[in-house]
Amino acid sequence: TKTPVTVTVTGAAGQIGYALLFRIASGHLLGADVPVRLRLLEIPAATKAAQGTAMELDDCAFPLLAGVDVFDDPKAAFDGVNVALLVGARPRTKGMERGDLLEANGGIFGPQGAAINAGAASDVRVLVVGNPANTNALIAQQHAPDVPADRFTAMTRLDHNRALAQLAKKLNVPVAELRKVTIWGNHSATQYPDVFHAEAAGRPVKDLVDQAWLADEFIPRVAKRGAEIIEVRGASSAASAASAAIDHVHTWVNGTREGDWTSAAIVSDGSYGVPAGLISSFPVVAKDGKWEIVQGLEISEFSRARIDASVAELQEERTAVQGLGLIS
Ligand code: NAI
Repeated sequence: TKTPVTVTVTGAAGQIGYALLFRIASGHLLGADVPVRLRLLEIPAATKAAQGTAMELDDCAFPLLAGVDVFDDPKAAFDGVNVALLVGARPRTKGMERGDLLEANGGIFGPQGAAINAGAASDVRVLVVGNPANTNALIAQQHAPDVPADRFTAMTRLDHNRALAQLAKKLNVPVAELRKVTIWGNHSATQYPDVFHAEAAGRPVKDLVDQAWLADEFIPRVAKRGAEIIEVRGASSAASAASAAIDHVHTWVNGTREGDWTSAAIVSDGSYGVPAGLISSFPVVAKDGKWEIVQGLEISEFSRARIDASVAELQEERTAVQGLGLIS
C-alpha cells in the first residue's frame, strides 16, 4: 500500500471546508488509489465544529482516509504537509476598508506561509482559495523563502469553470467539447475571461459569438457570478468553489489533457507583460507535476486592455501590502 499523502485544509469548519473535505477523503483530489491523511486548521473558536466534521469523516468509513486531526496552531497543522489548501480567510465586513482587509489577511497568510516554510514536505503544493486569493498567496509565498515560489498558487479555476458553463449553454455544446478558455489576472471582478483562442467541438469560439455578447454579457456574467450566486442562493458559492479546488490540485498533479489548457494563478515570470513575481491567472498546462504558462498566444487589443486592467489591480494590491509592511 502507498504511504498516505498529508493534506492540510484551513477554514475546515467553513462552508467550503464542509463541501471539500468529503471529496478529498473519497479520493477525488489525488486519485482513487491514493490514501490521504487530513489535517484541519481552524481558529480556536471553530475547532469544536471542525471536530464535528472530523467525526462525520470517520463515520463515512472512507477506505482511503488514513486519519483526521484538528489543529488551531499553523505550525502543527502544516508539519509534513504535501498539499495545503488555504481556504480560511478574514471576510470583508461592513465598513472595512481595503487596507484593513489586506492587513487582517496578512495576519493569517504571513504566519501560515512561515509555518509551511518551517515544516512542509519537500514536495509541498499550496492552493490559496481564501480571498483576496492572489494577494493572500503572494503574502504566504513571501513568507516561505525556502519553498520554490512556483509551489504557491491561487484559485481561478472556479472562474474558469463558470466560463465553460456559460459558453456551453450559449453554444449548446457539452462542456467536455470546450477547449482553451482562459481566465487572466486577478480573482476579482476585474478578471478577464478570454475565449479568443477557445474551441467548441473543434470550431473557433470567436466565429460563433459576437463581440457585443462577449463584452456585455459573457465577461461581466463570469466576473460577477460570485455576487449572482449570493443574490440567488443567499450564501456565497461553496460546493462549486470546493469542486474547483479539487480540479486545480487534481490537474496540477495529474496533468492537463492533450490539446487543452486550464487557468490558474501562478507566480509570473514576466510572460504576457505581467510583472514578474505577481501571482496572476494565466493559461496553463500541467506537466510532470508543474504548471507551465502557455506561450506565444496572440493578444488582441480587446484582450490587452482587459488583461492590463486586472494586472494593474494586482500591482495595486501588492503595493498596498508592501506599504503595510506585510511583505518586503
Ligand atoms: P466561511 O466563512 O464559511 O468559512 C471560513 C472559515 O475559515 C471559518 O470557519 C473560519 O473560522 C476559518 N478561519 C478564519 N481564519 C482562519 C485562520 N487564521 N486559520 C484557519 N481557519 C480560519 O467561508 P467560506 O464560504 O468557506 O469561504 C472561504 C474563503 O474562500 C472566503 O475568503 C471566500 O471569499 C473564498 N472564496 C474564494 C473563491 C475563489 O474562487 N478563489 C470562491 C469562493 C469563496
